[in-house]
Amino acid sequence: MEKESCTFSYCQKPAIVEHETDVLIIGGGMSACGSAFEAARWANPQKIRITMVDKAATDRSGAVAMGLSAINTYMGENDPADYVKYVRADLMGITREDLVYDLGRHVDDSVHLFEEWGLPIWKKAPDGHTMDGAQEAPKLSEGGKPVRSGKWQIMINGESYKVLVAEAAKAALKENREATGVAENHFERVFIVKLILDEKVPNRIAGAVGFSVRENKVYIFKAKTILLGSGGAVNVFRPRSTQEGQGRAWYPVWNSGSGYALGIQAGAELTMMENRFVPARFKDGYGPVGAWFLFFKAKATNAYGEDYCTGENFEATKKLYSPYAEKMGTAIRNHMMMMDMKAGKGPILMRTHDAMAELAKTMDAKQIKHLEAEAWEDFLDMCIGQAGVWAGMNIEPDKTPSEIMPTEPYLLGSHAGCAGFWTSGPADVIEATGAPKEWDWGYNRMSTVSGLFMMGDICGASGHKFSSGSHAEGRIAAKSGLAFILDNKDFKPTVTKSADDLAAEIYMPFEIYERYKTYTTAPEVNPNYIKPKMLQARMQKIADEYFGGVGTWYMTSKTLLEEGLKQLALLKEDAAKTGAKDLHELMRAWENYHRIWSIEAHARHIQFREESRYPGYYYRGDFLAINDKDWKCFVNSKYDPATGDWKCFKKEYKQLIPD
Ligand code: FAD
Ligand code: ADX
Repeated sequence: MEKESCTFSYCQKPAIVEHETDVLIIGGGMSACGSAFEAARWANPQKIRITMVDKAATDRSGAVAMGLSAINTYMGENDPADYVKYVRADLMGITREDLVYDLGRHVDDSVHLFEEWGLPIWKKAPDGHTMDGAQEAPKLSEGGKPVRSGKWQIMINGESYKVLVAEAAKAALKENREATGVAENHFERVFIVKLILDEKVPNRIAGAVGFSVRENKVYIFKAKTILLGSGGAVNVFRPRSTQEGQGRAWYPVWNSGSGYALGIQAGAELTMMENRFVPARFKDGYGPVGAWFLFFKAKATNAYGEDYCTGENFEATKKLYSPYAEKMGTAIRNHMMMMDMKAGKGPILMRTHDAMAELAKTMDAKQIKHLEAEAWEDFLDMCIGQAGVWAGMNIEPDKTPSEIMPTEPYLLGSHAGCAGFWTSGPADVIEATGAPKEWDWGYNRMSTVSGLFMMGDICGASGHKFSSGSHAEGRIAAKSGLAFILDNKDFKPTVTKSADDLAAEIYMPFEIYERYKTYTTAPEVNPNYIKPKMLQARMQKIADEYFGGVGTWYMTSKTLLEEGLKQLALLKEDAAKTGAKDLHELMRAWENYHRIWSIEAHARHIQFREESRYPGYYYRGDFLAINDKDWKCFVNSKYDPATGDWKCFKKEYKQLIPD
């Protein structure tokens, strides 16, 4: 077929905005907001320019958009070394312990800032009872005692969590504008399509290009360093929701793999991309379960009231997955739930009614009413759709249990998953713990591409950061990004590709659509292009059936992966023929490209790791057990932008904190 090109003969040419900055922050979520806040503190006195670009409106963008009911990482009285042990156990033995430790020692400072900015954090009263965030109590930084749901988690009234964090980031950007005299440094509703490498210095970042999702404008950003925080990937696998319900997924529907795709195409090394996250969630609404398990002490059972994590299930699990099965981490709990589901013992039920009855035994009527309000608030604060499901299904949590279910897989590295990029670690921790020296190449959280830093969901092999940890990691990355700029003061980015050529590449789906739309009477169906919605359905079908989605009970194998990758290659050819009728579809087209890069990396890593390291997340049917002898290592990979080659390889794992 003829190779398409965009000469703006059919579609309208966009206005081009060229913007030069020093630090470019891509994303507007928890890590990006943390990085803006921290970067400004160091940049302003030096008149270093900071710019943030978010595909959405920063007040409500990213995973925390709807708000949260808990902060899942707060050390408080705990030791960061114990946090490392917890993360290692949950992620089946393999993590970058230097990165995890680093996060543990810094995360509380971000939580104290959130409280200072107005986030209501639940506190323990002197007599031990629970006070919600509306009641007067000393702040955490003043010795206030948080209400812990689990060892690491604290309860909040967090509906407006993201708005508060965004407000601080926006204030920091404003101060930076005042310090540098730059007129504009916060671009919202601008979707970044790809990063640009420098044309003089090899393997050096020089900028990024994107487009407005509201106006006909293409943006070209030149920068000396980039802090990448544009999240993981949702909707790469066929979701459980169907038809109009497809807007509902657990992971935020606007994180479409840009974080991975942007870095991969620039040549940054990946780590643990075989990992994924399959959360167990309240069915259909995707409501959170953590507070129910940890705070309300609810039990989940099969339909017969049996605990699926005991007895025969547990014995069989130990045979394949010991010594990790005994740690009872997130993947292992999923695995045993699925054993009962496959045996027809579902539905799986969260016994909210039993838990509330147990708690009510020591409460008076007023306290019971408060408890019921807390049960609803858990959803109203962070997953209002689940409250809708409860209301619609006549579910009263104090009277009726609720169904839970493993979701479709997502790619991320800040929750109970660790797929992301390989980064340089903290020099002092590496030195003190005897970690391999090559884990430090000078700048904490810098990827293998010079000047490109990774944070939040896309910084790999270091999960369980959650909202607070992602914010803290943004701050860590910002500080080293600034050090990198100061150490390379003379660098000026060189980008010679013309603005028109960059714009033509971005607007290609418009050109294709406008050129061919009249070939058929129904513009949705056309031999010359494929619409983003159809392309996405095809991609999800391939991922689901060959790479271990819900359709195969998360099962895949060498032969299935080979076939899936073959079909993905064909899909990529057709993706170059995507037609977009408006700016919304143009965004959908580029989201799909980013998803395809993400899922390809995921499949290649699963293909390389010949064991089932994460039962309950995915299985290699041809290597069903864990094999520590050959695979207690990181799997890393690298795409070479110059040749188009992709290589997977092993990297030594080293335990830094003793058991
Ligand atoms: P995000 O905060 O998701 O931000 C990603 C940003 O990138 C967004 O601003 C997005 O608009 C932007 N972006 C994406 N693509 C592009 C592009 N191409 N161009 C420009 N911008 C782009 N943590 C807790 O502590 N407690 C909880 O209770 C909790 N619950 C959670 C519930 C859910 C459903 C999820 C998904 C996560 C939850 N977490 C929780 C984890 C927490 O939300 C994440 O760890 C954190 O938000 C990750 O930060 P991030 O910066 O990597 O990504
Ligand atoms: S949330 O992001 O939507 O809040 P979730 O509700 O699964 O996620 O978990 C919140 C926190 O509780 C996470 O730190 C998670 O690891 C932990 N958690 C969830 N379920 C359990 C469980 N059954 N046992 C121990 N920890 C759990």
